[in-house]
Amino acid sequence: MECEEDLFCGVNFADKDPEEMDALERKHTPVIEVEELGDGEYRVTVKVGEYKEHPNEHNHFIESIELYSGRTFLGRTTFASGRADPEATFVINLDHEHPLVAFERCNLHGTWRSKEVELE
Ligand SMILES: [Fe+2]
Repeated sequence: MECEEDLFCGVNFADKDPEEMDALERKHTPVIEVEELGDGEYRVTVKVGEYKEHPNEHNHFIESIELYSGRTFLGRTTFASGRADPEATFVINLDHEHPLVAFERCNLHGTWRSKEVELE
């Protein structure tokens, strides 16, 4: 199998508007919301399934969400199948201005990244 056809090879990224995504892309692309708290602090919420609900069953679920600023790791949340919605909120302080990017891992469909979000 070629790597391009393997969801578990590398990071999947749908670099398009949600209405142009197929169902697999809509279900797996993480969405970042940012709330500025002042003094360089931000509340960042990452959700999977905003464009189309992703299953949350014992044999198919979102295992984790990670947040980065550029290449700087900010946090990771892991989820219990069927019992926790794939949503995570991080409160962060940054001393640089690289864009935020989130990654999520589905047990059946591999790792997916969000679009980058610039902090103002
Ligand atoms: Fe999935």
